[in-house]
Order: sequence, then structure tokens, then C-alpha cells
Amino acid sequence: MSARVLVINGPNLNMLGKREPKTYGTETLAQVEAKCKRVGAELGLEVTCFQANSEGLLIRAIHEARETQDGIVINAGAYTHTSIAIRDALSAAEKPIVEVHLSNVHARESFRHISYISAIAIGVVVGFGSLGYEFALKALAQRFQIGA
Ligand code: DQA
Repeated sequence: MSARVLVINGPNLNMLGKREPKTYGTETLAQVEAKCKRVGAELGLEVTCFQANSEGLLIRAIHEARETQDGIVINAGAYTHTSIAIRDALSAAEKPIVEVHLSNVHARESFRHISYISAIAIGVVVGFGSLGYEFALKALAQRFQIGA
């Protein structure tokens, strides 16, 4: 039986490929999402992808994931550093969560060093670009003891 994982990307990540490519790489979000689905399938995961720029839509997707998904991979973008509401939604989801950041947030401005999500995640991957999503999916597959 395959486990279901929701890969969530937050604000400005729809701009991947165009946005500060030195920091975030040249792959588009569509390419990253396609890779997540392919790698997920290899690991026995059924991956669904969601991106939104607004906090409310992200929270709604997390609420839905509580009922429909087995795990969550999330790059909440700047909301990582500001949103207690997203953290609370993730907590309420009661699923294993992996936090991902394309860039090494710890090597950047101090406001990026704080994450409201890390403490409720099973793990955090930062600084490896889109490879971070693959690591996150592999960690979840191992957690569910399939594929990895
Ligand atoms: C990011 C890092 C955040 O600080 C930033 O606001 C983003 C992207 C990353 O993937 O490196 O939007 O989450």
C-alpha cells in the first residue's frame, strides 16, 4: 500500500526559476513538482503538490491534508519565519512533517534563522536546492517503512 504525501510550497515559490536563481536555482516549480511525483512514485509514495501565496489557502490545504494524507513536506517560504497560524495548522494535522528550504537559511539574514515549523517537524532539510524535497520524501518513505 502506498502512503500519501502532500508537498506544499508557500509564497513566491511559484516564481522558482525566475526568482533570484543564484539563491533558489533555475528549476521551475513545475519541474520541482514533477520530480517530487516521480521520486515519490519510486519510493512508493503517492505525491500531491500544492502551492499558494496566501496564508489562508495554505492553512486550508493543511486542514484537508489532515483527512486525506499520511505525511507533509512543506517549504512555507517566508511564512516559516512569521506564521504561528501555519505552525498550529501543521500541529493539528497530526502527521509527520518534513520542513524543506532550498537555500541554507542559516547562512542568510538573521530573520531567516527562526522557524516556527522546525520544532514540530520530524526533520528539516536546508541548503540542497530541490534535492531537499527528494531527501524529505525519502525520510517519509523510511518513516512509513516503504520503498526507501
Ligand atoms: C525559502 C527561504 C525563505 O527564507 C524564503 O522566504 C523563501 C524560500 C527557501 O526555500 O530557501 O521564500 O523557504
